Amino acid sequence: GIELGKLLASTGYITYDPGFVNTGAASSAITYIDGDAGILRYRGYPIEQLAEKSTFIEVSYLLIYGELPTEAQLADFTGRIQRHTLLHEDLKAFFSGFPRDAHPMPVLSSAVSALSTFYQDSLNPFDEPNVELSTIRLLAKVPTLAAYAYKKSVGQPLLYPDNSLGLVENFLRMTFGFPAEPYEVDPAVAKALDLLFILHADHEQNCSTSTVRLVGSSEANLFASISAGINALFGPLHGGANAAVLDMLEGIRTDGGDVASFVNRVKNKEKGVKLMGFGHRVYKNYDPRAKIIKNTADEILGKISGGDQLLDIAKALEETALSDEYFIERKLYPNVDFYTGLIYRALGFPTKFYTVLFALGRLPGWIAHWREMINDPQTKIGRPRQIYTGHAARDYRPLSER
Ligand code: ACO
Repeated sequence: GIELGKLLASTGYITYDPGFVNTGAASSAITYIDGDAGILRYRGYPIEQLAEKSTFIEVSYLLIYGELPTEAQLADFTGRIQRHTLLHEDLKAFFSGFPRDAHPMPVLSSAVSALSTFYQDSLNPFDEPNVELSTIRLLAKVPTLAAYAYKKSVGQPLLYPDNSLGLVENFLRMTFGFPAEPYEVDPAVAKALDLLFILHADHEQNCSTSTVRLVGSSEANLFASISAGINALFGPLHGGANAAVLDMLEGIRTDGGDVASFVNRVKNKEKGVKLMGFGHRVYKNYDPRAKIIKNTADEILGKISGGDQLLDIAKALEETALSDEYFIERKLYPNVDFYTGLIYRALGFPTKFYTVLFALGRLPGWIAHWREMINDPQTKIGRPRQIYTGHAARDYRPLSER
């Protein structure tokens, strides 16, 4: 493939592939997807096994370093992350500069971008110990930044990390706890969030990961590249879909809960009306992550919130769509985000924050891809070509003659 690409480039031919539907932009050993068979594996391990048996911190290690950690490796990795959870005090001032009702995604991406200014000692993309330090700093500090973004949005005081806690527990405490008040982490909530993070941890060359690779291909540092990935994830067709699903379900409930008429509006392609949480560029059978979430949604929602009316609307919507020709013909199935918003809601997060949770889950995947890209001898600066459709050459006319 690489040789053919080089040959075509030398002949001047350009492949026109809007949306990169059929373009392999990288070779990668991290994640395998078979979209027709509904298969997803991280480093060869089926997502179903990781979801059942692993933890997010272990999956992060697996994605970044290629193997499941031994007990000693996991303890060392966890310890290093725990030692880096604190933020520089000056970053607090940074948070107070945003308007109170700011969306937490741009707040998070700005804060991650700002890490380049605070950690100038770990910016060289080719210095392995420094890349390792940036990796640990990101894994440790992004949950703290995310919790600060939450606290900022609700006007509550910030909490320092408690490094006796695990990554997910610490994040929950910093988000929902109060200074000087004990906070008991509900193990069911921590387990649910850990599972969702595992399911989001990587998905090969999706829009945000491709962005991280593209920015990194210019040899921009890891913080700058991850910040760009967070901005790509913000869009409603990508990570923003989890919040858009909730808005859609609430809209249907407000309109009296008529699922069939909403589906008709989708089929009639009314402007701006899509079945959010449905469809995927690669999965044309089912999204295995959605299957795992659906199986656990009832259990989690029952345990945490005692049931949810919006879950009934979601199920009715799914049932209607799955038996409808429009969706069958186009191979549109629920994707990972169809049910996650409902779970995040039950865990107590506001809708605006759902995409931040996606970013926390995707972080190890972005880092793994950036590191793979920077060490790949085939990497070149990403620089697509175009098919020019503008004017042919023409002469400049002075202002008085136009
Ligand atoms: N609702 C209604 N129709 C849809 C939907 C949908 N959710 N998704 C695709 N279609 C239709 C398109 O209108 C198109 O119809 P046409 O052939 O009559 O023109 C056909 O299905 C093919 O769709 P494309 O847009 O070409 O598919 P693409 O691969 O480019 O897009 C995407 C994939 C962006 C995920 C799309 O399905 C979508 O917008 N879904 C809703 C948003 C969403 O849930 N995003 C989350 C994706 S998963 C993730 O990022 C974690």
